[in-house]
Amino acid sequence: MNILVTGGAGYIGSHTLIELIDREFENLFSIDNYLNSEESNYDKIEKITGRKINYFNIDLKDKEAIKSFFNKNTIDSVIHFAALKSVPESIDIPIECYQNNVGGLLNLVEAMQESNVNQLIFSSSCSIYGNPEKLPVNENTPFGKAESPYARSKQMGENILEDFCKVNKNFKVISLRYFNPAGAHKSGFIGEGYTKRPNNLVPLIAQTAVGLRDKLTVFGTDYSTKDGSCVRDYIHVVDVAQAHVKALDYFNKMKPNYDVINLGTGNGTTVLEIIKSFEKASGQKLNYELGKRRAGDVETIYADNSKAKKELHWDAKLTIYDMVSTAWKWQQNMEA
Ligand code: UD1
Repeated sequence: MNILVTGGAGYIGSHTLIELIDREFENLFSIDNYLNSEESNYDKIEKITGRKINYFNIDLKDKEAIKSFFNKNTIDSVIHFAALKSVPESIDIPIECYQNNVGGLLNLVEAMQESNVNQLIFSSSCSIYGNPEKLPVNENTPFGKAESPYARSKQMGENILEDFCKVNKNFKVISLRYFNPAGAHKSGFIGEGYTKRPNNLVPLIAQTAVGLRDKLTVFGTDYSTKDGSCVRDYIHVVDVAQAHVKALDYFNKMKPNYDVINLGTGNGTTVLEIIKSFEKASGQKLNYELGKRRAGDVETIYADNSKAKKELHWDAKLTIYDMVSTAWKWQQNMEA
């Protein structure tokens, strides 16, 4: 089976390539434009697995380049990660967000259709649920009001794919709705840290702990949660990566040709709890301040993950402690 991973040099993409290699998928291709990733990640994947990836510098906004890739390479399935993922950045630069996340997806699907490539796994997000009325959210929970262009771009992506699948019955799409991926590979060689403007919680904590930042600000302490800070469903990136490998099997048995599956642990954790867990794992006191709410944030969200368990035969195995300790190991390696 020949698999194309878009954004394979990025955070979740690189971890997924490792899991695909572990499951002995032979022909792996990756395209990336290195906007928020580094080409050297492929060397690190090779160091961890002993296997080389066929990789290409292609921007999905370049329709001709992606069409030409499919003309030259035989691909069976695509796992599509390449996108802008920062919620606050999407508020500052909405056009870039839509160009990458929606424009890039349209070009990809058009090129796949022309080359008869019919299986796509799409990186969606729990942000499509907005501020949900009922928790935990399951796949039947309707789209909520999008709190950011990022969230809206993921809603649009899902809508586009569902519409496309209605008229292209031989095309199969699985949208995986990630909650909050965190942590790093246990080797400490790859992790999250390349974004030009990082704003995900765990990498920011690790960067503060090594002294790259003065302090971390906790965004909001007046939410209606147990300690006033926001609640998220943090999930280890390796668990997320493994779910993609299982989703490839699901293509063979899925009934509708468009389906959505939540990828979360089912547990909600506050920002302050993450900080405490990091302090325990690293043995360091973190310099942080309690600050104002951040625009675009939802208060509380966590997953009902029973569909992933049933349909993908998958479960999240790693803990918050695993997430913060691997993130810490990775951050220290970066500085070494
Ligand atoms: C959002 C999406 C998630 C997506 C992710 C990709 C929602 C509900 N979730 O996650 O689906 O995968 O973007 O980037 O929209 N925080 C601080 N201080 C900081 C940074 C963050 O307190 O310096 C807090 C945030 O307010 C939030 C939590 O940490 O409560 C997590 O933030 P972040 O890591 O940025 O992810 P989300 O925005 O929750």
